Amino acid sequence: MPLPGSVLVVGADGLIGAALVRRLSRGGSRVLSTSRRAASHATFQVDLAAPGAWPALPKVDAAVLCAGNTSISACAENPAASAAVNVTGLSALADRLAAQADMVLLLSSNQVFDGGVPRRGRADGTCPVCQYGRQKAAAEAHVLGLRGGAVLRLTKVLTPDLALLTGWCADLAAGRPVTPFDNFPLAPVTLDFAVDTIVDILSRGQPGVYQASGADDLTYADLARALAGHVGADPGLVTPVQAVAAGLGFERLPRYSTLEMELEEARFGRAAPASDSVLEEVIRPIVLTGRAVAHG
Ligand SMILES: NC(=O)c1ccc[n+]([C@@H]2O[C@H](COP(=O)([O-])OP(=O)(O)OC[C@H]3O[C@@H](n4cnc5c(N)ncnc54)[C@H](OP(=O)(O)O)[C@@H]3O)[C@@H](O)[C@H]2O)c1
Repeated sequence: MPLPGSVLVVGADGLIGAALVRRLSRGGSRVLSTSRRAASHATFQVDLAAPGAWPALPKVDAAVLCAGNTSISACAENPAASAAVNVTGLSALADRLAAQADMVLLLSSNQVFDGGVPRRGRADGTCPVCQYGRQKAAAEAHVLGLRGGAVLRLTKVLTPDLALLTGWCADLAAGRPVTPFDNFPLAPVTLDFAVDTIVDILSRGQPGVYQASGADDLTYADLARALAGHVGADPGLVTPVQAVAAGLGFERLPRYSTLEMELEEARFGRAAPASDSVLEEVIRPIVLTGRAVAHG
């Protein structure tokens, strides 16, 4: 399926927004972008918290909303300010964009659910157990009410340069213990997988709810053990600890984070990746860097 001719990426300095800009540009789309930063390569400066200062935005075939306050703990600590960005600001911008784009795609999260069951269905009612999840659920409901509105729920996107992973790698390689949570789940996907799924959705142009998830849940302790195995570190250096819900910004900790991907498999041929293969892809480059750190 061909890519849309023109796409506006909102939040082009974020992890996924930046990768999406690169991918769409490579694919030949005309890419316009926004950032809240004054010093950015993005086409427009848009702070979601300051709608009065938004510039006029162009007519495009599709817009992808990648911007927002993505810290679960920051949203819990400051619900009003984060909701002004993640709900009020994003919804107002989505309204504007829906009037001038065929599709408005909001990036959302498995945190719109409570993590009570694995492989959560897309049609299940949202039931968040953190402020961030409630904000995402509210923004989803708004965008899905718009003409051309679409939502993509993602599980944890792992990249080799994630600070948590590079930090653990450096610690393990230096013989220092690490203390991952063994009661908090992640169903990792790679950045490429997330971006590929966005491109699939944009290429088809069909509104609705989409999900991109790892096939199975790990704990952060599993992740640290896998890293230790790859680095060749003493497995005894991985010292799991228990996450406390309130400390992470949750009312109750989720047990699962996976989402079902039946529609994506049928429509795009895109199945949920096994965690082993995701970890292999993400950890290999970190290990090289980590060894370099350990040996100066
Ligand atoms: N990465 C994941 O594992 C994951 C998983 C599930 C869902 N998602 C969703 O996917 C989307 C993109 O995630 P990401 O990992 O790319 O997030 P990210 O790296 O944190 O990027 C978010 C971007 O939003 C920008 N932003 C924050 N406040 C803003 C404001 N007031 N106005 C305008 N822009 C603002 C940030 O600007 P600065 O760069 O200036 O800080 C940043 O560039 C988010 O909606 C997130 O909820 C991500």
